Amino acid sequence: MRKLVKNNVSWVGFLDWEIENFHGYDYNIRRGSSQNAYLIEEEKTVLIDTVWTPHQNDFVKNLASEIDLKKIDFVVANHGEADHSGSLPALMAEIPGTPIYCTANAVKSIEGQYGKRGWNFRVVKTGDSVDIGNGKKLIFIEMRMLHWPDSMATYMTGDNILFSMDAFGQHIAVSELFNDLADQSLLWQEAIKYYANILNPFSPMVAKKLPELAALELPIDIIAPSHGVVWRDDPMQIVEKYAQWSADYQEDRITVVYDTMWEGTAQIAHAIADEITRQSPDTVVKVYKIPTSDKTEVMTDVFRSKAVAVGSPTAVNGILSSVAGWLDYARELKFKGKKAAAFGCYGWSGESVKILQARLAEIGFEVVEENVRANWKPGEADLALVPGLVAALLGNKPAEE
Ligand code: FEO
Repeated sequence: MRKLVKNNVSWVGFLDWEIENFHGYDYNIRRGSSQNAYLIEEEKTVLIDTVWTPHQNDFVKNLASEIDLKKIDFVVANHGEADHSGSLPALMAEIPGTPIYCTANAVKSIEGQYGKRGWNFRVVKTGDSVDIGNGKKLIFIEMRMLHWPDSMATYMTGDNILFSMDAFGQHIAVSELFNDLADQSLLWQEAIKYYANILNPFSPMVAKKLPELAALELPIDIIAPSHGVVWRDDPMQIVEKYAQWSADYQEDRITVVYDTMWEGTAQIAHAIADEITRQSPDTVVKVYKIPTSDKTEVMTDVFRSKAVAVGSPTAVNGILSSVAGWLDYARELKFKGKKAAAFGCYGWSGESVKILQARLAEIGFEVVEENVRANWKPGEADLALVPGLVAALLGNKPAEE
């Protein structure tokens, strides 16, 4: 099945309703996703990207039901990751020798995954272009580290479509295809989740690339990413969001995350959440028990927050493995400019708070000294430390006695 994008450009991708995770189990998908591929039928017939390996036979069969595959003049591989290059083996078996336009790094990533098969790669760099007839051409724009070294975007003149690859995408299945037809609340939740969990580590490159893109002065009527909706209604709105999100983004929001053995650390977590609301009623507070929460969504809230409070009881001179794993994922996402505080209960040795503080500092949080470290169960004296911890996170002076 194809869906018309504009004039002679169609979507020929795969709506993946069943997919539940991505990048191993690092990214949880709750509402399906799509791998978007596009077919351009001008004087030249061009396929932009393919779909993930498990769907390659369906993809090729579907494409063959739409056009004679031998009519494809060339393929553009904007990115070598398997969710977009995964059908190349099945496709190229049908049309061997057909040129594949991609970056030099994409040749490495594609051959690294599928082996050297003698495919006819045409290496391109920013500013290179190819005529597709009817007065239109494709212009290639390298998007290095957004989010792989091989990433690029392809711009189609005449119809003014930017095939932006992963950038501006979302993991959500939208059969309606276009951004103006999608459920707006879900769309924006998924767009920021995608940015927080996939692109945030590369925010400095996003911040650098957006002005470079603007400097090319290419009119953009449509942004067609590789996942989720096609942005046809005010497409620059997602570009403006990326400009904000790449600039050490934060809202008036604090996220409290913890795990607990016998509810003592949970009690401190909730006392901190209540105190945030008491001291700063407009600040949005979210509380997550790490092992039973969706870590992709938790990290989205951390991305939106100006501060976090992280709790773990001491377990055998360390912290709970759930919290350790969570911290490791937070390290990957390279958050910047956010405060953090630590808390936790202990029975005898009590190292967890110091370990949490050290780990949070190491992964880029601005750790405040104020903490709550409670022996066995939090008592009155322990909970009396909560206002100071919260004031430090909010940047407030401690309340006068
Ligand atoms: Fe959607 Fe980086 O692959």
